[in-house]
Amino acid sequence: MPLIHVINGPNLNLLGTREPAVYGTATLADIETGLGKVAAAHGATLNFRQSNHEGDLVTWIQQAGLAGEAVILNAGGYTHTSVAIRDAIKGSGARVVEIHLSNVHAREEFRRHSQISAVAAGVIFGFGAKSYELALLALVSGDAQNLK
Ligand code: DQA
Repeated sequence: MPLIHVINGPNLNLLGTREPAVYGTATLADIETGLGKVAAAHGATLNFRQSNHEGDLVTWIQQAGLAGEAVILNAGGYTHTSVAIRDAIKGSGARVVEIHLSNVHAREEFRRHSQISAVAAGVIFGFGAKSYELALLALVSGDAQNLK
């Protein structure tokens, strides 16, 4: 049974009450529950985590990559700033699908650049909680192979 890591970065613990017009009203626990059902239907198991600390994200990505396990990553604000997260993906060979709830290209200019996209297998954004599900479907259907 494939293990898929779902790694959530800073402020995503506030989902449900955080800027609901942008991020919706589902909590992170709601997303985990819904995604767990989709994973089970496809014979996959999830390791779903959140941290507000950049180093935790780096460590978890390294561990997944070195174990050959795929990652669905919503790095939150670190998406736009973190060379360390990019290096963790590249250095560990982690197969990562970068996701965002919001359409980052329809928001502030600084959200249009991602440090992660160039080392990700693919990127999905703008579909709210569904972004997680679409990433999971890409992984379980084998479509998120890194072709580089
Ligand atoms: C986000 C988009 C980021 O720009 C923002 O900093 C977040 C959430 C999203 O899921 O839409 O924290 O990653």
